[in-house]
Amino acid sequence: MISSKTLKRQTERVLRRIGLEPLIYHYVCRKNRRRFADNDRLFLAENPDLILPPPHLRFDVIACSSAEYYATTGKRMAEQIQSVIRQWGSPDTKIVCEWGCGPGRILFALEAMDTGKTMEFVGSDMYAPSIQWAQSVPDCRIGFHLNTMEPPLSQLDASVDFVYAVSVFTHLSDSLSRAWFREIMRILKPGGVFWFSTHSGQQHRNDLTAAQLEKLERGEFVAIHSWHNGSQMYTGIHCPALMKNIIIASGAELLEYQPGGNNTFQDAWIVRKRP
Ligand SMILES: C[S@@+](CC[C@H](N)C(=O)[O-])C[C@H]1O[C@@H](n2cnc3c(N)ncnc32)[C@H](O)[C@@H]1O
Repeated sequence: MISSKTLKRQTERVLRRIGLEPLIYHYVCRKNRRRFADNDRLFLAENPDLILPPPHLRFDVIACSSAEYYATTGKRMAEQIQSVIRQWGSPDTKIVCEWGCGPGRILFALEAMDTGKTMEFVGSDMYAPSIQWAQSVPDCRIGFHLNTMEPPLSQLDASVDFVYAVSVFTHLSDSLSRAWFREIMRILKPGGVFWFSTHSGQQHRNDLTAAQLEKLERGEFVAIHSWHNGSQMYTGIHCPALMKNIIIASGAELLEYQPGGNNTFQDAWIVRKRP
């Protein structure tokens, strides 16, 4: 008998093929909003000082509109980034940039942890509603910028100490990933550190065709998509061999590769721009 998981995968494949996935995405977003409405009300009443964007912007970054999930995962991720900065960043780390920051799920939590206010934080994303919302937060010490699908960022050459990108390459094509990797290297100071996450393909094996699996085995890029680059409906898969090639081609130094290092379902990478 066919399992419900297999049925769901097959249905998704058909929807993707006939171009209906975006409609389903919006339907799931609205359903999600209703599902978490009561919990959200309670959570917001108990945590009136939390910086929380509206449900559709929460859904846009984590595919779930729950306020509690958004806040707890954002804080956990900020703690992880803080420990990477402490372990691998320069002790003088001053400028920290999140590329693909959405409405600041991680960035607001990270900024709050900088109790001595010794660092400067900037975030950039290509989705205008997220950036406009983040810019509207009162008394915000973070510089939020809108970028386009393709580089550049607004930062000057060699001006940033530490960059991180949580689940951004996971939504980009091969050529855009390479262009953005070079762009991050451009803005990093020599010796600066970049943390980012990717899909290795292991979690997606059942969603791939035989031809795509062969490409993956050969260390080539594979994508599952029905909508544009950068959206939740574009899944870019960079197997470890491919990602290592991109890093080597850019001249950066690989400091650490952590399979499953981002929340167990994405790989994490730490690289340094050579001094
Ligand atoms: C899965 S969300 C993650 C958001 C945020 N990093 C977090 O973890 O809360 C991916 C984000 O990457 C952004 N994004 C995708 N392509 C981008 C690009 N070329 N430049 C900047 N942001 C991009 C999307 O708009 C979205 O906000």
